[in-house]
Amino acid sequence: MAKLAHKDVLRADQFSGDEIDLIMETARGYAAALERGEVVDRMRGKILSTLFYEPSTRTRLSFEAAMERLGGRVISVAEAKSTSAAKGESLYDTIKTVEGYADVIVLRHPEIGSAEQAARATDLPVINAGDGAGQHPTQSLLDLYTILEEQRRVDGLTIALVGDLKHGRTVHSLADLLANYDVRFQFVAPDALRMPAEIVGRLRAKGLSVTETSDLAGTIPVADVVYMTRIQRERFEDAAEYDRLKDAFVLTRDALDPAKETITVMHPLPRVNEIATDVDGLPGAAYFRQAANGVPVRMALLSLVTA
Ligand code: NCD
Repeated sequence: MAKLAHKDVLRADQFSGDEIDLIMETARGYAAALERGEVVDRMRGKILSTLFYEPSTRTRLSFEAAMERLGGRVISVAEAKSTSAAKGESLYDTIKTVEGYADVIVLRHPEIGSAEQAARATDLPVINAGDGAGQHPTQSLLDLYTILEEQRRVDGLTIALVGDLKHGRTVHSLADLLANYDVRFQFVAPDALRMPAEIVGRLRAKGLSVTETSDLAGTIPVADVVYMTRIQRERFEDAAEYDRLKDAFVLTRDALDPAKETITVMHPLPRVNEIATDVDGLPGAAYFRQAANGVPVRMALLSLVTA
């Protein structure tokens, strides 16, 4: 248990294989306990503060549900912009203040590196719930958990990450996390939204196979997992460029005809237009199960870092 105690969760590439296994095992234990209707009292008397400077549905609610399920309490600012940040307070001062109120902090902020900055400001564990177009490590842990639940393995799989690979923090973190396994990557993006070269380089340096393409139809038949993402409108400087790219890839039921029968379709959500609703009824459509997995995985993280 001690391994993650008092640690921050800032980037997906920070974890050792043992730490990932520990998080997955702990999450499976909590999922089983929830399934049995057990009350888990692991964090009674502890307080989580969530600070969200960007919109969120699943990440904030599942962190809060996780803390409640652990018997802890939550103090929350859903719209951190409405805090003293609006009066010009620095992130440093906000974090120093919250340090006096809580035992663990979950932060979402529009700037890359903001979670690292917050972590330097306090000895409390800081969990990065998304730093701009940077990283979203807790999402990638629940994504990995979902792949394990749906496919029963990770090694040997061909995993297609599709959409806005340039700005999407979920795919940046997921690529880094999956680099701990023997996977084949298919990165499917319009030319303007390719995976940052730095990440592709990191993966190839680890000996992983990475194919970059803009051909979704050609990728479907070889994929074990297809991970769709939203084109990140809020990261575009030019609205016309967003309009040009926003419907680059739309996954329909027909498009999945040539897919393996065992394919798993994932999406961090929110979806705009990337997956047609006629896909929702397919057995491999895992995105709402994926969202639900956020609770046991975040229970695991909260309990491990505050142990
Ligand atoms: C994602 C995010 O905020 O990065 N959502 C999430 O946390 N599940 C994906 C997105 O906004 O497109």
